[in-house]
Amino acid sequence: MQSQPNPKPPFKFLIPIILFFLLLLLPSLSFSSSTQFKEAPEFYNSPQCPSTSKSVQVAMTLDTTYIRGSMAAILSILQHSSCPQNIFFHFVCSSNASNLHAAIITSFPYLKFHLYTFDDTTVTGLISTSIRSALDCPLNYARSYLPKLLPLSVNRVVYLDSDLILVDDIAKLAETPLGENSVLAAPEYCNANFTSYFTPSFWSNPSLSLTFANRKACYFNTGVMVIDLERWREGDYTRKIEDWMELQKRIRIYELGSLPPFLLVFAGNIAPVDHRWNQHGLGGDNFNGLCRNLHPGPVSLLHWSGKGKPWVRLDANRPCPLDALWAPYDLLQTPFFLDS
Ligand SMILES: *[C@@H]1O[C@H](CO)[C@@H](O)[C@H](O)[C@H]1NC(C)=O
Ligand SMILES: *[C@@H]1O[C@H](CO)[C@@H](O)[C@H](O)[C@H]1NC(C)=O
Repeated sequence: MQSQPNPKPPFKFLIPIILFFLLLLLPSLSFSSSTQFKEAPEFYNSPQCPSTSKSVQVAMTLDTTYIRGSMAAILSILQHSSCPQNIFFHFVCSSNASNLHAAIITSFPYLKFHLYTFDDTTVTGLISTSIRSALDCPLNYARSYLPKLLPLSVNRVVYLDSDLILVDDIAKLAETPLGENSVLAAPEYCNANFTSYFTPSFWSNPSLSLTFANRKACYFNTGVMVIDLERWREGDYTRKIEDWMELQKRIRIYELGSLPPFLLVFAGNIAPVDHRWNQHGLGGDNFNGLCRNLHPGPVSLLHWSGKGKPWVRLDANRPCPLDALWAPYDLLQTPFFLDS
């Protein structure tokens, strides 16, 4: 008997074609806009870590504009910590909470955190427009409300901006001594011209300028702070900051946004944070956008304060030399996936 030749199944031709289309579809399926950030690796405690009761509490704000910076900051904190599982994050956002929550979970599935919603209307009535509109965003003022937002069980918190990365163990920053009375510690800059942060109408009014009598007031950066929440609550400092903001609406006493009320309430009474924890100004010069270099001395934290942000400059293919130090912490998917 003659065997019949095996008929070629016609669908065999289709297989490579189907595979081809599946491959084309794959990136857009798995990298939709809600998951545009990569998952970070899991980080583990070293054996000599204390129990989690001695955890480091970190507070940051989250918004859609700065989320890329926040992600990089979180990754840098975990990566340089010897006890990353002992870090608890307190995120404050004012809108898009569910998107931001999803973004954090996707990139950091093992992160211990809580997301708080800050009601913008708490401060919208208190904000007077400043010279840099980015500083007028209500969430910029959320740091004054941390003692109200965070649970009473949290006594000490490290507040960090979203435009920075740590290259050292945050536990060391969290242990900054606050002395007998200080409510907060921050990097102080006594060479900065303190007078320039307030208007001539402020300085010419003795009932106002006497605020700084008997205080060795210096400018300090509110982007890196260690805050004793218990002392803050006892002294009702949120209220004191609000009082100055109320006054600002009637008499213009300063030009910048959320910083001057902090200076009015705390300058001269804070504990210093070592400058290694605020290698600041890497965002560049506010007027000409010039790149800045590191300040002399050791580096534990790089802060892109100022108008320029490393992710914007990297995307535009016009990075400053030090932006290369930020890039390894960028969790955004590569442009190849974003384009599809
Ligand atoms: C909320 O998220 C959407 C999509 O990412 C964005 O277009 C919008 O501006 C966000 N809203 C605020 C208030 O940030
Ligand atoms: C500090 O700033 C004030 C107001 O901007 C200015 O009048 C004063 O000359 C400055 N002082 C120094 C030492 O630059």
